Amino acid sequence: MEKNSLVDNNKKTWSGRFNEPVSLLVERYTASVSFDQRLAEYDIQGSRAHAQMLSTQGIISSKDLTAIEQGLNQIQEEIRSGNFVWLQELEDVHLNIEKRLTTLVGDAGKRLHTARSRNDQIATDVRLYLRASIDEIIRLIKTMQSALLDLAEKHTDTVMPGFTHLQVAQPVSFGHHLMAYFEMLKRDAERLSDCRKRVNKLPLGAAALAGTSYPINRDLVAQKLGFDGICENSLDAVSDRDFIIEFNACAALFMTHLSRLSEELILWVSPSFNFIVLADRFCTGSSIMPQKKNPDVPELVRGKTGRVTGHLVALLTLMKAQPLAYNKDNQEDKEPLFDTVDTLIDTLRIYTDMLSGIQVNHEVMRSSAMRGYATATDLADYLTKKGLPFRDAHEVVAKTVQFAEKKGRDVSELDLSELQNFSQLIDKDIFSVLTLEGSMNSRNHPGGTAPSQVSAAIKLARKWLSQ
Ligand code: ARG
Repeated sequence: MEKNSLVDNNKKTWSGRFNEPVSLLVERYTASVSFDQRLAEYDIQGSRAHAQMLSTQGIISSKDLTAIEQGLNQIQEEIRSGNFVWLQELEDVHLNIEKRLTTLVGDAGKRLHTARSRNDQIATDVRLYLRASIDEIIRLIKTMQSALLDLAEKHTDTVMPGFTHLQVAQPVSFGHHLMAYFEMLKRDAERLSDCRKRVNKLPLGAAALAGTSYPINRDLVAQKLGFDGICENSLDAVSDRDFIIEFNACAALFMTHLSRLSEELILWVSPSFNFIVLADRFCTGSSIMPQKKNPDVPELVRGKTGRVTGHLVALLTLMKAQPLAYNKDNQEDKEPLFDTVDTLIDTLRIYTDMLSGIQVNHEVMRSSAMRGYATATDLADYLTKKGLPFRDAHEVVAKTVQFAEKKGRDVSELDLSELQNFSQLIDKDIFSVLTLEGSMNSRNHPGGTAPSQVSAAIKLARKWLSQ
């Protein structure tokens, strides 16, 4: 049981006007240091740039700047080596660092917060963190895309049944199927780099909400921190978190793509499909059914998609009723954001490895395409090219398929005379049309499944990746 005991409010930086201390429960409830300490590197980076600007502008002395920089260097060392003591009673990452700085360098440390508020400070920290996270995620997406390309390249000629409504539709190249996911990931990467433009703006200088009366230079700070510019309105700078929501929307969409791929992997490894084999290290066994090899990793990716989408909804809901400007509600943006970033990074790493270990059961994929009358459309196209209107051709093919079904054979396995019962336009050149390869090769235009087109698409994709 936590004691509802009182803490010494003199320890709080803001306690000057309070007569009554907060309870331990309130202290724990309002503190964020347990999770926002992971912003420490960015907090220090922001403080350095801010202090340098203050000194350049003559707001603090260069002696103070030197002391602040030395103190921050030491604190950074302590944090990196795990020797920094984080205190809940100091609330958040900002006050923990500031308190330590003051202990180390005295009054100079107390001057660091001139012309700044924790409101513009946290907005800056989180933008720096998110910018670095986006860069890492884009890098990992590209690595995964490269693994997809390697797999697709091995399988430009591998025939699989293409599905609509999860029913065999037309034969496609397995490489072509994989390249569909390359395209999705390409858009995901593009969306993230577009989102980065809106993340990469500097809030510092907004102070608590209205700006500051000191002669600051925001452009200088922006430049030092690698921002593309400043947030133009101080109220907006400290209060809106649309850049986090936008990132999480991109993340949810990305996870949705991987969830679709995962769903396919799960189907393909199931004994009923048996199209592919996943390396053992991505699967687990059952404790009571020795025959089982469960695709845990893709199942979890599908499951974690729900979690990332949930974070998006949480963030939107968090924002929707907040009046301008800063509200403490915004402290709740961190855990969903961190969890989304962590989930994406782990998922990408694991997925890239998993893709490179996929083995394909060529014969099973092929015979599955054979079983589903996958070349029926090719027969219809054949008749249409010989002058029969497409709707009539469709009718002829439907009857032919019905007949073949009764005989338990594929359309390509019927005799010429049997086929000619349905249309006199059919000749022996039909048999090359009805093969899986014939069907696949005939879709020979950009975006089509002909292996030569798939190879061309892979080439273009590699070019895109390398730029
Ligand atoms: N922990 C706060 C957050 O995450 C930092 C800003 C707090 N500002 C304040 N005035 N209490 O948003």
